[in-house]
Amino acid sequence: MVVSTQPPSEITVRAVAPGDVAQIRSLNARAFGPGRFARTAYRIREGTGDFSPFCRVCVIDGQLVAAVRFTPIRIGGRNGALLLGPLAVDPAFANRGHGRGLVADALRDAREAGIALVVLVGDEPYYTKLGFRRVPQGQITLPGPVDTGRLLAAELVEGALANYGGIVSANLGAPP
Ligand SMILES: CC(C)(COP(=O)(O)OP(=O)(O)OC[C@H]1O[C@@H](n2cnc3c(N)ncnc32)[C@H](O)[C@@H]1OP(=O)(O)O)[C@@H](O)C(=O)NCCC(=O)NCCS
Repeated sequence: MVVSTQPPSEITVRAVAPGDVAQIRSLNARAFGPGRFARTAYRIREGTGDFSPFCRVCVIDGQLVAAVRFTPIRIGGRNGALLLGPLAVDPAFANRGHGRGLVADALRDAREAGIALVVLVGDEPYYTKLGFRRVPQGQITLPGPVDTGRLLAAELVEGALANYGGIVSANLGAPP
């Protein structure tokens, strides 16, 4: 029998701090590659701060291994919504629940803060388990091309999706 002498890892999920930004950019570059800036979701985030109160990182033994960003948005001029993304996990730490853990942690805090709806452009099979479902085609639009089957929303207030329709824009009046 082999007995491990390694101490257990110290895993921390916490809000993003200014000192994390460079490492998060590097993680996103590795996860998404250079084409990421052309994505419609990136266009919405342009001009917003680097992070909002709901952005989260996962740090293991001092190493930043996962990050998720949330941007306050308006949908058809209505406040109270967030855009989730990017979510990136270091491939060396994939499939250990860090991605879902970060999103779940942030959604819990967002609900407590009164956020009604979170939208994203992403893989439905992954996000369904976090409470996201497809937005009915044409109800919510983004300022650029999006595969409508990948436009998903999670209601943090029951029935909230029905109250939102129209184009998504950054909510520049929201706190950083
Ligand atoms: C996608 C990503 C965020 C997942 O993070 P993770 O921490 O590895 O995933 P988790 O541990 O939270 O979840 C693992 C589960 O999700 C599944 N999964 C992972 N990526 C998936 C995807 N793109 N679509 C569907 N399921 C996926 C795994 O098969 C696993 O399933 P299981 O629970 O049935 O075993 C991560 O792999 C990543 O950063 N990928 C590159 C960037 C990216 O594509 N981000 C956006 C996602 S739309």
